Amino acid sequence: MVRPKAAHYDRVQEYPWEIRDALHEAGLFGVWIPKEYGGHGGGVLDLCLVVEELSRACGGVGVLFAVNALGSFPILLGGTDEQRAKYLPDIAHGKRLIAFGLSERNAGSDAGGVATNASDEGDHWLINGDKKWTTNGGAADIYSIFAVTDPTSRSRRISGIIVEKGDEGFEIGRSEDKMGIRCVPVVECHFRDCRVPKDRILGARAGMGFKHAMMTLDNARPGVAAQAVGLAQGALDLATVYTTQRVQFGKSISSFQMVQAMLADMAAQVEAARQLVYAAARACDAGAKNVTKLAACAKLFATDVAMKVTTDAVQLFGGYGYMRDYPIEKYMRDAKITQIYEGTNQVQRMVVARNLVKEAGRLDHLKAFIPLPDHPNTIADQERSEAATAGA
Ligand code: CAA
Repeated sequence: MVRPKAAHYDRVQEYPWEIRDALHEAGLFGVWIPKEYGGHGGGVLDLCLVVEELSRACGGVGVLFAVNALGSFPILLGGTDEQRAKYLPDIAHGKRLIAFGLSERNAGSDAGGVATNASDEGDHWLINGDKKWTTNGGAADIYSIFAVTDPTSRSRRISGIIVEKGDEGFEIGRSEDKMGIRCVPVVECHFRDCRVPKDRILGARAGMGFKHAMMTLDNARPGVAAQAVGLAQGALDLATVYTTQRVQFGKSISSFQMVQAMLADMAAQVEAARQLVYAAARACDAGAKNVTKLAACAKLFATDVAMKVTTDAVQLFGGYGYMRDYPIEKYMRDAKITQIYEGTNQVQRMVVARNLVKEAGRLDHLKAFIPLPDHPNTIADQERSEAATAGA
């Protein structure tokens, strides 16, 4: 269903409702949602396995599916029982699609810098502002958005709020013309005195939005990484078949050592990325402490692999690979966004490094082995000083 339609939807840049229907009929929208809310009770690993397989055929369909997990994680991780019971079953049953609205024109990597605000008007919130790059926007019925509810607070400034299609003052704006993932809409969302009931704030109290957004991204980044693994594997599959068929100098090009080396490196990179993604997904499901670092490692590693492998796959197709008639250049275009969204790979590296530094206390015992200019505390120093004392 997905592969034969991939080129068409890429060309026309339209939402593939027939593919959404097929995903719904297969019951896939409930994969990551707990059984008590109508889902299958799988976790991040199950989500990743589905995203990987879909992305192997079409990266756009991979994100079209995964973005519903991104949108629903704020409710799952930060919502009240009532909010979970109200929204998650419809998502699990494929009745309603959901999107995630964090980024703004001037708040991309600096997610804490959002300017959209929601003022407390007694029995409702009044939202004003604009969101940028909302994936699934327009197709979605529900939006988990993040807005400033307390401009005076440093750490409790932002809250997650649920907005529904049809809410007064909520409008979908311009739809972007994109390099890749063209079957899924990426839009601007506008809020002009948008009124939403008081109980739409995520969680029991306002001000927890930044934490909810970060926890969401920790759980969703393995999904982007799985999209990358699927794209890389899909490109490798096509390149392997092509190189065994393409004859030059009287032989299939797969018999040439330089081509074999490329295929082997691609295979090793894809497998390494896959294992890291599964490890990060399992850590999310286990509620492990180091999830933030591991999810960021998986996202940056797998998406860099996807860019490298899909680019090499185009190379192996030679002149044909550069042409739109062939399916391979789409993999390269679809792969590029995985290095950018849900946190650029520069942000992932910053997250990994910050966590490494934070964990450095665990390694204090190694200080004795590191010569520092003012602290002669290495083993060699000690031995020298012992020898000097013995000689004296
Ligand atoms: N889990 C829980 N809490 C966390 C956290 C985490 N992973 N990371 C940070 N926090 C908490 C901190 O403990 C801190 O709390 P206190 O104020 O109580 O101390 C607070 O959040 C602020 O943390 P930082 O000082 O680390 O925040 P920062 O401003 O330096 O930003 C950042 C950190 C990692 C750069 C973050 O802004 C970030 O992830 N940026 C990228 C945003 C992003 O991924 N956007 C993509 C949006 S989705 C998309 O791409 C579109 C789509 O539709 C697919």
